[in-house]
Amino acid sequence: MNFTVLTLFPELIENAMNTSICKRAMEKGYISLDTIDIRDFAENKNGRVDDYTYGGGAGMLMQAGPVYSAYKEACRRLNKEKAYAVYMTPQGRVFDQRVAEELAQHEDLVIICGHYEGIDERALEEIGTDNISIGDYVLTGGEIASLAVMDCVSRLVPGVLGNETSASDESFSSEGLLEYPQYTRPEVWHDRKVPDVLLSGHHANIEKWRHEQSLIRTRERRPDLLKED
Ligand code: ADE
Repeated sequence: MNFTVLTLFPELIENAMNTSICKRAMEKGYISLDTIDIRDFAENKNGRVDDYTYGGGAGMLMQAGPVYSAYKEACRRLNKEKAYAVYMTPQGRVFDQRVAEELAQHEDLVIICGHYEGIDERALEEIGTDNISIGDYVLTGGEIASLAVMDCVSRLVPGVLGNETSASDESFSSEGLLEYPQYTRPEVWHDRKVPDVLLSGHHANIEKWRHEQSLIRTRERRPDLLKED
């Protein structure tokens, strides 16, 4: 999986991705990250990439030209005529595990981060972006949203998680349930004991208990997940 992020804050993206599991995944070559500074494609001497909106209203908008040029540069680096592009916006379809699984099928993802009031619509139309929101709230820019998407997609790339079962066993896996509670040593902590069944070594009983706990937890915390869609 090759991520290319178009942003006004490349260091933010690089620093965040250079930690923990994503860092190791990059070192091992399972994923790659390239950033393109949209400001490098400013069409004036002072490096501005925003301007007032036609029709008035508060706030500035990122201009079509620099965003489109940055996208073309991403395509050039990927050796592609057109690369799949995702625009991070609160107006997009809401990101969830299913969308992550869908995005993980692509070889390359170009992720566009907007700032100010957004991006001139014509650039987004010309690129033909998939529009994705990470939830019904408004961030100051797309960078943090893009990091959530890249983190989540990365762990679905084969090899990134050492243990292949850990991505499929957990919350929001195919069954759509939350994960069961888990415990590690010590066996007793603050007078709280690990459930006996987990110490029994009886695999069928452990599976059954975990499934029941998943159902209970989902019913309590996320009943909306149990409704038919
Ligand atoms: N940019 C600003 N808010 C956002 C959100 N909720 N999701 C994705 N991108 C955004």
